[in-house]
Amino acid sequence: MSPLPSDRVRRAHARDTVQALLPSVQSRVAQSLGELEAEALVARIRQHLFDMVEPLQLLYGRTTDVAALTGRLLDLVVDAALERPPGLRRIDRRREVDPRWFQRSRVIGYVCYAGRFAGTLDGVRHKLDYLAELGVTYLHVMPLLKPREGANDGGYAVADYRQVDPRLGTMADLEALAADLHDRDMSLCVDLVLNHTAAEHPWALAARAGDPTYRRFYRVFPDRTAPDRYERTMPEVFPDTSPGSFTHVEGLGWVWTTFESFQWDLDWTNPDVFAAMLDTMLFVANRGVDVLRLDAAPFLWKREGTDGQNQPEVHLILQALRALVAVAAPGVVFKAEAIVSPDQLVTYLGAHEGFRPECDIAYNNQLMVMLWSSLASRDSRLATASLRRMREIPPGTAWVTYLRCHDDIGWAVSDEDAHRVGLDPAAHRSFLSDYFSGVHPGSFARGRVFQHNPRTGDRRISGTAAALCGLDAARETGDDEAVDIAVRRLVMLYSVVYSYGGIPLLYMGDELGLPNDPHWADDPEHVGDNRWMHRPPMDWAAAARRHDPATVEGRLFASLQSLARARAGLLALRAGTGTTLLDTASRHVLALRRRHPRGPAFVGLANFSDGPSEVGEDVLLPQFTARPELRLSSDGVRLTGPGVRLPAWGWAWLADH
Ligand code: GLC
Repeated sequence: MSPLPSDRVRRAHARDTVQALLPSVQSRVAQSLGELEAEALVARIRQHLFDMVEPLQLLYGRTTDVAALTGRLLDLVVDAALERPPGLRRIDRRREVDPRWFQRSRVIGYVCYAGRFAGTLDGVRHKLDYLAELGVTYLHVMPLLKPREGANDGGYAVADYRQVDPRLGTMADLEALAADLHDRDMSLCVDLVLNHTAAEHPWALAARAGDPTYRRFYRVFPDRTAPDRYERTMPEVFPDTSPGSFTHVEGLGWVWTTFESFQWDLDWTNPDVFAAMLDTMLFVANRGVDVLRLDAAPFLWKREGTDGQNQPEVHLILQALRALVAVAAPGVVFKAEAIVSPDQLVTYLGAHEGFRPECDIAYNNQLMVMLWSSLASRDSRLATASLRRMREIPPGTAWVTYLRCHDDIGWAVSDEDAHRVGLDPAAHRSFLSDYFSGVHPGSFARGRVFQHNPRTGDRRISGTAAALCGLDAARETGDDEAVDIAVRRLVMLYSVVYSYGGIPLLYMGDELGLPNDPHWADDPEHVGDNRWMHRPPMDWAAAARRHDPATVEGRLFASLQSLARARAGLLALRAGTGTTLLDTASRHVLALRRRHPRGPAFVGLANFSDGPSEVGEDVLLPQFTARPELRLSSDGVRLTGPGVRLPAWGWAWLADH
């Protein structure tokens, strides 16, 4: 990937070509938006020019005239800037002044399927008070663009990027939702699937009909020779339902399908694919979407002899897209969905040898896995070791911290980290699958195995957070004490999610402890995909009990409200300030410190034990300038002098007095 001397010459030529275009761009923009907007747009092009031209040169320079390509892409960008609604341009301006807006402590996310939460997008608009009650300021509505008919991988098989799923509403409804959110100073996150389209997308249909232009949008092979070679090193994502990474399509050949057979991987070596997807992103951004969740980002570039993820070109694609989108829609944020190893993960936030703007936020998959690992093993040492080893992320970026999402949980426990704390990695991963699928003796969890891969021994896990914390099992037996403990576990886990560092995401229904959906397989579209067990429809009858402190719903809802309120008032909990894992004498307690130069220091403690644990003053006192005070905690926490005693599954937030 290192640039050749000729790359440098061509890159310089491309930059000169773009520079030469700027006066005409400026006058074109000035005509419709006025001088000030035109000057700002040209300033943005200059600012991002290097970050668009260099990656484009490295990606496409050997086959394409990059000067011409950049000009063509800039045309799309300028068109999008011209059609960007004034309300969104106003938000852009605010965010250019405050580019770290998403790092604020008040930013708290909620994730839901529009249909499951409120029927339609219009229905969601009518539930914003409910979200505001929870302190939510960022809403991720799961895939909502028009999917193929029938099975569609939860909406991740898109048949039309410019239309909303008609069952959920229209583009106008999406715009209205975005506008309502913006009126409340909330933001909207929407999925954008870059890696593949549905087999029924017009591009795929054209490819199938023999159109050579669209045939080049996908990766198609005449026989099994190349697919066999690639498959030697590619992991299978859905070994149960879609083994292998290729699907035979009559009249076409072997189509690359990393995920389900009806999801056709786009060929990003083709600059036309880049242009088409850039145009799609700009279109979606202009509907009022603040955060684009870039689905399955690591898979965009394929290379034989590798696992087909995280190739250097993936980062170049994201960098170029970032630079181009920032010209038209500077307020828009990119979120990487990169469920990869911690070392790879940070690179999606731009942490390369030198910083390169790439995605602004990314899922902290490691934290999620480690919370569940600690819960099952009653031991936080692996979590402390692995989280501590993660590289710091660039200051302008943020993690998204979460406990559950719509996907299964894969046991991303690195061998190195496991060995460091004396665990056998394969045995620990196997223990976690046994524990959360409820087969381990004494397990409180009621999850299910998802996509068992006998070749690798991999067994991922489905199940709602409440079910994995023991609530379903406790309710089955009517054991009130077990119910109480399950609630304590769930809140304790969220106390870490809300304080670890990043934008916390609350997954729909966790605030009420929703159980696994017993009817998940009734829908023929969902058969065979047990991730639907943790995507239950919203239970509004349960939600109606949220103000009754005697109910599970009341306890969970109130706890999450207090976490949100306390978080919003603690500067140290902003994203963008570092997180330090502390050593304590107890292997059960996860202890973390956060600090902001302008606010009091913060220490969060979480006890992963069936019994009480203590954290002594030797750990706590050095973290604070004065005597720490308890800002928020579970019941039963006691300050023992400057030390703290946590009950079973208890947690505490301490801050400088
Ligand atoms: C992402 C989504 C997952 C989907 C896959 C393929 O990983 O989170 O639900 O199956 O991409 O689009």
